[in-house]
Amino acid sequence: MPEPMTPVSFPPAFLWGAATSAYQIEGAVREDGRTPSIWDTFSHTPGKTAGGEHGDIAVDHYHRYRDDVALMADLGLGAYRFSISWSRVQPTGRGPAVQRGLDFYRRLVDELLAKGIKPAVTLYHWDLPQELEDAGGWPERDTAYRFAEYAQIVGEALGDRVEQWITLNEPWCSAFLGYGSGVHAPGRTEPVATLRASHHLNLAHGLGATALRSVMPARNTVALSLNSSTVRPVSQDPADLAAARKIDDLANGIYHGPILHGAYPATLLTATEQLTDWSYVLDGDLAAINQPLDALGLNYYTPALVSATDAEQAGPRADGHGASEHSPWPAADDVLFHQTPGERTAMGWSIDPTGLHELIMRYTREAPGLPLYITENGAAYDDKPDSEGRVHDPERIAYLHGHLAAVRRAIADGADVRGYYLWSLLDNFEWAYGYEKRFGAVYVDYATLTRTPKSSAHWYAKAARTGTLPEVDEVF
Ligand code: FCB
Repeated sequence: MPEPMTPVSFPPAFLWGAATSAYQIEGAVREDGRTPSIWDTFSHTPGKTAGGEHGDIAVDHYHRYRDDVALMADLGLGAYRFSISWSRVQPTGRGPAVQRGLDFYRRLVDELLAKGIKPAVTLYHWDLPQELEDAGGWPERDTAYRFAEYAQIVGEALGDRVEQWITLNEPWCSAFLGYGSGVHAPGRTEPVATLRASHHLNLAHGLGATALRSVMPARNTVALSLNSSTVRPVSQDPADLAAARKIDDLANGIYHGPILHGAYPATLLTATEQLTDWSYVLDGDLAAINQPLDALGLNYYTPALVSATDAEQAGPRADGHGASEHSPWPAADDVLFHQTPGERTAMGWSIDPTGLHELIMRYTREAPGLPLYITENGAAYDDKPDSEGRVHDPERIAYLHGHLAAVRRAIADGADVRGYYLWSLLDNFEWAYGYEKRFGAVYVDYATLTRTPKSSAHWYAKAARTGTLPEVDEVF
């Protein structure tokens, strides 16, 4: 609940949006020249996703985008964040673009603009063209150059009609889950490759931002979305504080250090020195990465709680996106992750809006003057239609209310938060969890692909329309 002194209305220009990503919703994986991405390969590898599920059809957004945009308009959304499938646009990850692929995004954007919905494009939401992974993937420097080329192609094609750009979504997940724990594509479990991938993702961001700006109108904005963690120590014991510091460096500083401040945290370099000498950070890289940003996107779901441990205690650990016998965290066997207290969503993630407030205030200090967007926030629940086909999801309404109230409080505390994108518009392919975890404000019947707005969609529509949060128990 908002605290008594917090004004209830959001600033009039606040953007009320929803987010998705290409592989999670599009389907049409073999149409119009698209080739496999690492997620096609991974999801078709036995044992990698729940039930062997994959995004071949997903929610068929590629063919139903007009209806989906109409749905967004009905819900009164002001903005829509989606991602581009790299291998739809550049099937081999290099060389000339496929116009049919770009045309799909042109049509989508035109449809959004016609309905008064602002598009926000994410260039990379985890679906690397398989050919680039075959050449070594993110641990290899060339992938960053390939990304810059791709950014330029998409910037040229859509820069005239899309103003908001996001280079990367959650590079932590690409690096630490893709190359560390292996619960995400490409499923490698190599600690050093995780750190190399992080650096090349940072470089890709910097070179990509520069490439975008070289071809786009100056009014367009360039940002990236970090899943920066709110990391809390279990106690003020120096060993627990050091554990929290280490995880904060590996979760956050490894990205915001070079991106916002032009340097990797010294404590990160020391903590990882047994594994790597970081010699893949070449002269000029930090300057290339440290590009001025127009905004920063924060994705938030749940905080992390850590303590120090000895190596024997540290065993297999869940990282929130799937279980693996491999830790996603290189050089952190001396850190133990704890269950965070509080109620949980269907992901098992604890519900803690104070973590979002803390995160926003942290980046308000870390990057003074930089506008912030919440580019993802939301919750999975086991939603089911009732006998009349309606889907009531009061838990999701409570989650959204709590987190939006935290955003409002942060604005009252001086943070410059310009908008919020609910994750997700629709139920969709939740990566290693397949279709079982439903994050949508709109329910999707996977047998018929019919879309039904849940109560939370109506609740959110009212919030967007009025600029204030309806009561949690208001009936829709
Ligand atoms: C984020 C991802 C998004 C979705 C949500 C639940 O980490 O960016 O695609 O999986 O988690």
